[in-house]
Amino acid sequence: MKSFGSDNHSGVHPAVLTAIQEANTGHQPAYGADSVTEEARRLFRQTFGPDAEVFFVFTGTAANTLALRALCRPFEAVVATSAAHLNEDECGAPEYVAGNKILAFPPVEGKLSLDVIDRLRINPHDPHRVVPRLVTLTQATELGTVYSLDELRAITERAHARGLLVHMDGARLANAAVHLGCELADVTTAVGIDALSFGGTKNGLLCAEALVFLKPDLAPSFAFIRKQSMQLASKMRYLSCQFLPYLQDQLWKKNAGQANAMALYLRERLSQLPGCEIPYPTQANEVFAVLPPPIAKIMQEKARAYAWDGDLHRFVTSFDTMKEDVDALFVGSGTP
Ligand SMILES: Cc1ncc(COP(=O)(O)O)c(C=O)c1O
Repeated sequence: MKSFGSDNHSGVHPAVLTAIQEANTGHQPAYGADSVTEEARRLFRQTFGPDAEVFFVFTGTAANTLALRALCRPFEAVVATSAAHLNEDECGAPEYVAGNKILAFPPVEGKLSLDVIDRLRINPHDPHRVVPRLVTLTQATELGTVYSLDELRAITERAHARGLLVHMDGARLANAAVHLGCELADVTTAVGIDALSFGGTKNGLLCAEALVFLKPDLAPSFAFIRKQSMQLASKMRYLSCQFLPYLQDQLWKKNAGQANAMALYLRERLSQLPGCEIPYPTQANEVFAVLPPPIAKIMQEKARAYAWDGDLHRFVTSFDTMKEDVDALFVGSGTP
């Protein structure tokens, strides 16, 4: 039985294992000076634009936290939704490692409201208060919704006008781009995002995430920050090679397309269960459902659905979730 507990429960796409196997030839210089990493860097520039500068790291938490270290001084603050992974699920790493205060605001369907940015008190002359410096958005959001391109443009314009930079936590960026029917650059570089945590692990890679600066000169000292933060892989080629099929062969799109389609199918099937309510639109690979307790118990066991908040449960589909995996959850439920 496949798990719907998280997209981290899935395995590795065979094309990624092949890329690792191919990278495993002979000797290469260490710490990113190898030809595989050079090729991956080129692909990132091709995908996100000529100014994109990519740094490979091991985890999404590292990408997020190091984005803060790179872009904020310790007395500067980060604006996020209270639901942001960086606020809720990173064990305080951003606060501990980067040292920034996080100003967390209630999300609306997972998203940061534009008026939050308008209402921020920003006074660079008052040393009693932190100075907001960075807005961070999660795309797709933690609640499985997706910011539209217009919403993103409005946020970056408003933030930049107030002297703020904008970071995107793109742990599930591929799923968001597939939902929007656009390319990765359309939903990042083209809408004014400054820095991006680009996820891979949840969408078929073995273990590889990237922090991408999308504009020149944003973090000239980042190579030092990454090393000091223990995220500089010596055998870097085994991280960077995972992005070769992902970007070159558009594996990101294929994998996220399958996961998204299965989330929609799962939503449809869940909505036929008596007493089940689905409070948010399903726009990526997560479905949130309020389940009556007897059904919740079954779904926790069968699907490994995660009890998010009381009766609200989260289901996550993966790149290898199939229709029959979804159907298997409903055997004996009395639904067609
Ligand atoms: C929205 C979001 N950001 C970042 C991460 C990165 O997490 P990790 O440090 O486990 O790779 C996750 C993982 O669950 C996530 O859901």
